[in-house]
Amino acid sequence: MMKQRRRPKVFVTREIAADALAELRRGAQVEVWPYPMPPPYAELRHRIREADGALTMVTDRIDAALIAASPRLRGVSNLAVGVDNIDLEAATRAGVAVGHTPGVLTEATADLAFALMLAAARRVALGDRQVRAGKWKTWGPRVLLGPEVFGATLGIVGWGAIGRAMARRAAGFQMRILYVTRSSPRRQREKIDEGAMRVTMNRLLSESDFVSLHVPLTAATRHLIGAAEFRRMKRGAILINTARGGVIDQRALADAVKSGHLGGVGLDVTDPEPIRRGDPLLRLDNVVITPHIGSASYSARERMASIAVGNLLAVFDGKKPPLCANPAVRLRSIKGATCLTVGVRRTRSPTDAR
Ligand code: DGY
Repeated sequence: MMKQRRRPKVFVTREIAADALAELRRGAQVEVWPYPMPPPYAELRHRIREADGALTMVTDRIDAALIAASPRLRGVSNLAVGVDNIDLEAATRAGVAVGHTPGVLTEATADLAFALMLAAARRVALGDRQVRAGKWKTWGPRVLLGPEVFGATLGIVGWGAIGRAMARRAAGFQMRILYVTRSSPRRQREKIDEGAMRVTMNRLLSESDFVSLHVPLTAATRHLIGAAEFRRMKRGAILINTARGGVIDQRALADAVKSGHLGGVGLDVTDPEPIRRGDPLLRLDNVVITPHIGSASYSARERMASIAVGNLLAVFDGKKPPLCANPAVRLRSIKGATCLTVGVRRTRSPTDAR
């Protein structure tokens, strides 16, 4: 029989799926930030200072200073696949495990990337705005024309799970698919079974009608696509970004659209978020922007919450999170804070409250 110890304290920075929260409450003392806006940084730091764990969102900055000011912290579990909001090196140095949620949001994010590609090409958002503004006067042979997606060339930057899921969708539209990836060919799991061809970045940019970004934001990918890359893209090409805003030099993007070089843009992510009210992109008709909703399907968000909770509970159990973003971490051990209470249930039963 396990000795009963102090239940770990967890700060959850936003309401998450009820089932997952109930599961977390069975293993920890949980405080949930109850507001729709994220906790301001000072508040976040204050709440995490005494916590053993934090369940965070992409909107929460977990930096070296916050980690240093939180001596009990053992795990940060991000409700996201991306962890660019967390200083991974500082976490690893401090023995704080970082969990994330890859896999379960792949299809939802690829759906949105594909939707943005169709919307930008076929001017869906602009058409809708015009209809609502009473500007739909008649059918017209030159009204709201755009390029065809079917059979066009799609360049996928980043051949991870989401990039490949995008390729599978594109195959249904008989698109020619080019991709770039940083991993070595021998380590590629994927055979060319989506008909995709690995090429250089230059070739991808110069031959693609659509370019879709699927890379994490790191020091190496910040402003990966800037003025030089836009110049290499085909005139009239359309750029899609569902990864992170910082992957694009946004000022150069606005210039490339204004000059007429790019034919359109579909963004689910911007730099910063939300996009500034005065950003020139907001004045351009051929730009479609959604508010970072790539993973916002009901099932993806439920599964993300459940994985995020599992990641944190594993840490309290003395293990690394099953989906760990800093696997090199050596878990901090804190006396008295190892924490499973006797008989904590780990599986859902039909009687669990929603
Ligand atoms: C992620 O998972 O990184 C998304 O951007 C948030 O859902």
